[in-house]
Amino acid sequence: MVEQFLQENKQLVDKQLPLYVKHLNAPEIIKRAMMYSLEAGGKRIRPLLLLATLKAFGKEVELGLPVACAIEMIHTYSLIHDDLPSMDNDDLRRGKPTNHKVFGEAMAILAGDGLLTYSFQIIAEMNHQDVTSEMKIRLISELAKAAGPEGMVAGQVADMQGEGKKLSLEELEYIHKNKTGKMLEYSILAGAILAEATEQQMNALRTFALHLGLAFQIRDDILDIEGTEEKIGKPVGSDIENKKVTYPSLLTIDGAKEKLTYHIKEAKSALKAAEVAGEVLDYICDLIATRDH
Ligand code: IPE
Ligand code: IPE
Ligand code: MG
Ligand code: MG
Ligand code: MG
Repeated sequence: MVEQFLQENKQLVDKQLPLYVKHLNAPEIIKRAMMYSLEAGGKRIRPLLLLATLKAFGKEVELGLPVACAIEMIHTYSLIHDDLPSMDNDDLRRGKPTNHKVFGEAMAILAGDGLLTYSFQIIAEMNHQDVTSEMKIRLISELAKAAGPEGMVAGQVADMQGEGKKLSLEELEYIHKNKTGKMLEYSILAGAILAEATEQQMNALRTFALHLGLAFQIRDDILDIEGTEEKIGKPVGSDIENKKVTYPSLLTIDGAKEKLTYHIKEAKSALKAAEVAGEVLDYICDLIATRDH
């Protein structure tokens, strides 16, 4: 049941994403560059978190599909820019050559810019009868906060500035909470906004999302060491090469795994406190804890 929900909705998102780009009145080259990274694959975990949150409130997935696609576009932009030579300088993403390897740096930057800005247009233009203008403004404002200089961009800045330095666990947590956590949190928050969650449920889900986001990036750090290139679809050892401080580098691999278990446990107990039908969300916690890609 849960697996089927995830599989069907991943397919739905995979199908919808290229349609958005196809309909753009834009130069073919930028459409191809945007499409290339969107269609390269990816787990679609952020869209699935949004749709699973809607399900937890008994809402239909159609209500959130445009926002789910908008989130995946911003995430994909962040990956294109993260891989650039001036950032992590990686050649492989989602099992394929990185965007700049195929389209050149200038077009890769522009493809990222295009995905970022288009995502806001998609939310502004969505027209489901249950989505009010107030909801759209809140969705857009929270997305800007999560993706921008108070969120993911802040995390990426701190991550870059931390290269080659000794960081405390607190400083590392700041990086993880922002560069990865904020967009994962937003995925759940957006579902809660669309489902008209109560303030109390919203708070419990925020706590849930915070722990889930940290767990997700800790697993990413572990996979950078223990993963295989075939499985994760990106180079192994990128963090060590770029002298990044990570959970394993600070706490050892075992210490990082302990932290991961702790955050999954906290996430699950916050989910219970939200008093929603959270089977799919609970299952996603386990997926995140054990994922090999
Ligand atoms: C990778 O994100 C970058 C991080 C924020 C850790 P994902 O692991 O969700 O990558 P895709 O979307 O599945 O390729
Ligand atoms: C990047 O984190 C997170 C964002 C793209 C915002 P990483 O640099 O660890 O992501 P990967 O490992 O390249 O996917
Ligand atoms: Mg990076
Ligand atoms: Mg990277
Ligand atoms: Mg990484």
